Amino acid sequence: MVLHNPKTAATRLKKVSPLRPTLAIVLGSGFHHALTELRVDKKISYAKIPGFPKPTVSGHAGELYFGHLGQTPVLVLSGRAHFYEGHDMERVTFATRTLAAFGITDLLLTNAAGGLNKNFRAGDFMVLTDHINFMGANPLRGAVIPGLPRFVDLTETYDKTLREVLFQAGKISKLKLQRGVYLAVSGPSYETPAEIRAFAKLGADAVGMSTVPEAIVARQIGLRVAAVSCITNLAAGISKGNLSHSEVLETAERVKKSGAQLIKQFAELYEKL
Ligand code: HPA
Repeated sequence: MVLHNPKTAATRLKKVSPLRPTLAIVLGSGFHHALTELRVDKKISYAKIPGFPKPTVSGHAGELYFGHLGQTPVLVLSGRAHFYEGHDMERVTFATRTLAAFGITDLLLTNAAGGLNKNFRAGDFMVLTDHINFMGANPLRGAVIPGLPRFVDLTETYDKTLREVLFQAGKISKLKLQRGVYLAVSGPSYETPAEIRAFAKLGADAVGMSTVPEAIVARQIGLRVAAVSCITNLAAGISKGNLSHSEVLETAERVKKSGAQLIKQFAELYEKL
């Protein structure tokens, strides 16, 4: 079921500003501070973009910015639609399709995640090398979209060049970046310790509730994708205490300057590619 046409939403965006960035950045928890580095040209509330849902999660504002990070023109999305909010996959990935229709070629996805890898600490950042889709749904399910493949190759979902750019950005920001496999669950409950033990055996380094649908759709359209997680907590059973959204937000707050620097440096290096 097509609720809205991404082309219509992209046409609306094009009226907001004459800027035509090729890089879009989706800010998740731990990365919203990047907005303080952004020289804002214009912004538009999601409520004014046809097809964009209103985010219901605290810390997810629901605004799309046109601006510059350093010299690099960027679109920045503050807030995303999550599957756990009750949106269907089409809605969750509508912004991705809109960005592609707008003319974006590169997409940086950021998120908060729980750490499974024993070497990870809360407050670390992890560059995604691959993912495991455990959401129980695939955003490409449904009718074929004319001109786009149904059976999409995900051998290299997270672009090698952009991954390298992230590591360089980490170096410049004096951040040691972890790397690993992100496993996506539907949420919104956190995992049980038994689930986390199982996911670790499957090869997951971090677990979260977003990013994978957007990455899959972006690859269907042929966008280059990079993604980075803020490890806001150790996953259930690995962390000593219980898990809470406030812990996620507290860690995100503690490392917000690092997250912002990483994104800014990424955007600056991107311009030189
Ligand atoms: N599990 C799933 N999603 C998350 C977590 C977690 O531990 N932390 C932040 N997002």
